[in-house]
Amino acid sequence: MSDMHGKLERSAIGFMLAIIAAASVGGIVEIAPLFTIDETVEDVADMRLYTPLELSGRDIYVREGCYACHSQMIRTLRDEVERYGPYSLAVESQYDHPMLWGSKRTGPDLARIGGKYSDLWHVAHLNNPRDVVPESNMPSYRWLGTTPLKLEDLPLKLQAQRTVGVPYTEEMITNAAADAYGQAMPDTDQASGVSERYGEATQVSAFDGVTTTVTEMDALVAYLQVLGQLTKAAYENTAAPEQMPDPTN
Ligand code: HEC
Repeated sequence: MSDMHGKLERSAIGFMLAIIAAASVGGIVEIAPLFTIDETVEDVADMRLYTPLELSGRDIYVREGCYACHSQMIRTLRDEVERYGPYSLAVESQYDHPMLWGSKRTGPDLARIGGKYSDLWHVAHLNNPRDVVPESNMPSYRWLGTTPLKLEDLPLKLQAQRTVGVPYTEEMITNAAADAYGQAMPDTDQASGVSERYGEATQVSAFDGVTTTVTEMDALVAYLQVLGQLTKAAYENTAAPEQMPDPTN
């Protein structure tokens, strides 16, 4: 064996061909499943789209680099499932462009953070993490609560998502700004349009606790609260549902 290896290493061309052969096997193993992606990603009926407010929150999450410290993918390992809930399914990030799975975890995974805390906990935490978690080294994002959310570019944002395959309807695109406003302003006429278009389970709330303007804080908290809540598929298909946190709390 060592003889053969010695010979192979001394033959530059032979060794190169052997490397190419070995690397190709690895490549095929990674690429081949993509040809059957339509069957690989399961279809679920209850999967809903991000509302315009949640989509804006997602953009703020990307802009602020939250993904540098937080992953959004629960692996199939037992310690992860017991800590975070059912492991992530491909379909749950079907509408995520770009996807934010990540692997760097300075902070906890956030794939199922939705519903774990109240809106006001998130606001307090984002304003100054150490007010609620004294040992936290997460930065403060205080300006979000005083920065008005730009509503006028929302139709274009939805349009762009549709271009890459997210099935937003013409009606959703036209009403994007009004829906973002309504979702953060529970007592207005615009609020009812959000649940009509995105489903009764959509959370309409004064996310940052203030209903004078829609702020970036409203958007980010709305986004955090929907993480893991777009479909119940993971809870329904999991092997041991009794071990899982309640998706409806
Ligand atoms: C420098 C790394 C870092 C960055 C950047 C960061 N976080 Fe964190 N985050 C942490 C750490 C560490 C914790 C755990 C301590 C705590 O709860 O504050 C945490 C906790 C959290 C939690 C609570 C998780 C739980 O299960 O209790 C949420 C929600 C959260 N971060 C959201 C965000 C958002 C949104 C952003 C971007 C605006 C962000 N984080 C940016 C490090 C970070």
